[in-house]
Amino acid sequence: MELMEGLLTRRSIRKYQDKPIDKETICEIIKAAQFSPTAHNRQPWEFLVIDDKKFLAELRHIQRWTSFAKDAACVIIVCGDIEKSFNRNKEDEKWSFIDVDCAIATQSLMLAAWSKGIGSCYCGAAPMQRVVDSLKERLNLPDNMRPFAIVPMGYPAETPKQPEDRYHPEKIHWGKW
Ligand SMILES: Cc1cc2nc3c(=O)[nH]c(=O)nc-3n(C[C@H](O)[C@H](O)[C@H](O)COP(=O)(O)O)c2cc1C
Repeated sequence: MELMEGLLTRRSIRKYQDKPIDKETICEIIKAAQFSPTAHNRQPWEFLVIDDKKFLAELRHIQRWTSFAKDAACVIIVCGDIEKSFNRNKEDEKWSFIDVDCAIATQSLMLAAWSKGIGSCYCGAAPMQRVVDSLKERLNLPDNMRPFAIVPMGYPAETPKQPEDRYHPEKIHWGKW
């Protein structure tokens, strides 16, 4: 699939065929995510792949908008390492690029999946503190791991309508506001 076509045709997929995704394909998808840009090239991410049906069904109790994850082939939890990220967490002027880095990786992950005919849907974790805490506890994540996004994926069992109203030339400002 050509890159521009992938960018324009990726849609959130929430219905999946009952068909697993092989490990090699998952690794290729994650490899693409790991080639994403990061602040100071810190690459502060980890990817947790879970295909346990019990966990997939349980997810909606952790993050209420993930009920469809029960039918996914797997979920990939994109996590950020708060110690590796480019940040000033310990200083007065606190900031961190961890969520930005993870968001870019999540988009790359979904686009790579789509290029292989696999559908996915970005489901937010951070910055919802309750969801972050619940995932950390349920998955036994180390203290420095921040679960950022939950990405259910699988071979699509739906073809969402392509939006007609996404391109807004009036939102482009040339040279001045
Ligand atoms: C930060 C973020 C959080 C999202 N969380 C959820 C979610 O919890 N559940 C869900 O079904 N979709 C979620 N979505 C997907 C959006 O609903 C979807 O991207 C949007 O409706 C546009 O549709 P499209 O992805 O098909 O272009 C999320 C998307 C983003 C970027």
